[in-house]
Amino acid sequence: MCEDKRLKFFLDTANLDELKKAAEWGIVDGVTTNPSLIAKEGVALEDQIRRICDIIDGDVSAEVVSTEVNEMVREGRKLSKIHRNVVVKVPLIRDGIKACSILSKEGVRLNVTLCFSAGQALLAAKAGAYIISPFIGRLDDIGTEGMNLIRDIVTIYRNYNFPTQVLAASLRSPLHVIETAKAGAHIGTLPFKVLDMLFQHPLTDKGLEQFLKDYHKVFQETAAGR
Ligand code: E4P
Repeated sequence: MCEDKRLKFFLDTANLDELKKAAEWGIVDGVTTNPSLIAKEGVALEDQIRRICDIIDGDVSAEVVSTEVNEMVREGRKLSKIHRNVVVKVPLIRDGIKACSILSKEGVRLNVTLCFSAGQALLAAKAGAYIISPFIGRLDDIGTEGMNLIRDIVTIYRNYNFPTQVLAASLRSPLHVIETAKAGAHIGTLPFKVLDMLFQHPLTDKGLEQFLKDYHKVFQETAAGR
């Protein structure tokens, strides 16, 4: 189990405006994309990944779109050459695991995606995955407690010292993010909207308003007037 104790925040988007805005906050450690997110931006995969790497200095997951092992390996090698930060994403199917075994031996870093069970996560770890991506929200959608999967994978990887990092994906709310951190995942990948929601608390707004009101009542100076 990778023992870097700092929880990393990745942004789950291929949108450059969202990435630039979040990057300014100084709290984004990486990016995950998938074929749907890339398609939403309407720019060719390799071009968009290059642009993302120019904005965020951290791991950037780029997913293959083939489902046959030789094609996946070819695509993965090509994607990995775009930038040193690219992590090649492959789906958790038989050919994906085969591609992960081949590419990881070549030194390519792999994110194995679409993981919905602890057994699948074991396969990815055995194949040398750098990251495993269990999808929380999509499990919740079908009436299964998604967070239990994160807890199980963290326990299993810890039992055997697997270096594969657990990335909680498909996070839909601030509560998901907090539970992910409590479960001991290494990474949470957040849509921009969820990251932005983490800032919000009515008592922060109310408290700040009162602080400034009290201050200006006595000192009658504005920030602009200083
Ligand atoms: C992660 O890598 C996936 O792209 C993403 O988290 C999927 O989230 P969704 O289930 O909200 O589409």
